[in-house]
Amino acid sequence: MNRAFPQVTIVGAGNVGATTAQLLLLKEIANVVMIDVASGIAEGKALDLMHMRGNEHFGPTIVGSNDYQDTAASDLVIITAGIPRKPGMTREDLIDTNAAIVRSVLEQALPASPEACYLFVTNPLDVITNLAIKLVDVSVNRLIGMGGVLDSARFTNAIAAETGASPKDIEAMVIGAHGEAMVPLPSLATVKGEALLDVVDGEALLRIMQATVQGGASVVRLLETGSAFYAPASSIASMAEAILGNTKALLSSCSRLQGEYGINGVSLCVPTVLGSEGVCRIEELPLSSEELHQLQASAEQVKEQLARIN
Ligand code: NAI
Ligand code: 2OP
Repeated sequence: MNRAFPQVTIVGAGNVGATTAQLLLLKEIANVVMIDVASGIAEGKALDLMHMRGNEHFGPTIVGSNDYQDTAASDLVIITAGIPRKPGMTREDLIDTNAAIVRSVLEQALPASPEACYLFVTNPLDVITNLAIKLVDVSVNRLIGMGGVLDSARFTNAIAAETGASPKDIEAMVIGAHGEAMVPLPSLATVKGEALLDVVDGEALLRIMQATVQGGASVVRLLETGSAFYAPASSIASMAEAILGNTKALLSSCSRLQGEYGINGVSLCVPTVLGSEGVCRIEELPLSSEELHQLQASAEQVKEQLARIN
């Protein structure tokens, strides 16, 4: 391990976990310990990534293991373990299987890294993040979910595709549950500093919203055997960079609401300032009454789904 870098554990060495590991190494964000239940997969992919170091010359290192002792004292634990959805399935269809997996992962990861921030990726993201808060005695600011950064990336890309602008010149955010009930915020989006709503007409806006909300399902339909992983991994890396680098970046993260937006005691994707303590602050954006209503409805839906888990 190169001690100049922080340490990240990635649980689940599948598509999302391994692609995240690759990005964390290439961007020199952290050393990685990658864990999987399936024997050999984490070790094999870690070895392959270390071979890549011979060409790419990145500083951090990676090891693969199925023993949580090797993850001790990690700064950040990223949980991607679980089954992905197949065509026709919603993220919610994954609840029972993935809740059991995440429960067992936490029982093993937490004793090894009691001071870490935990970043949940396993779907259904909002339910899993809220379940984790129920299960473990860890300060809520250190239990965060990834969903809104990915949805915001899809929103940004859809705006770029429709307007021809570079994604660099677009500011756009999606909040709410990571699912069909997500809440894109077109009224706050800008293209080269101009309001999106002044730049596109109603039909273009509809196409942008559809491409955003249906982004994940479109990938599932085409892949047939799994779900997206390149954009998810890049979204996780952005959050890891903000947490480990204490950058205070404002990212749509699944964070515990404590009265913000009139919501209490549930985690949802909301604009969050991220730093070394995890959630530093939730920003309250000026939402329209419809957006606020949608967000509050998502909170109720997540609470109901959580109550149904055994
Ligand atoms: P995958 O099937 O490629 O990888 C999952 C890995 O988890 C497998 O290697 C499997 O062996 C491992 N695993 C299963 N149980 C485990 C356990 N108890 N401990 C350690 N490892 C275990 O799936 P993929 O595509 O990597 O997706 C992983 C999860 O992430 C899925 O639930 C998917 O829906 C979710 N996801 C969430 C996103 C988000 O925005 N929040 C975006 C993309 C995926
Ligand atoms: C996605 O949105 C599967 O949640 C994942 O692609």
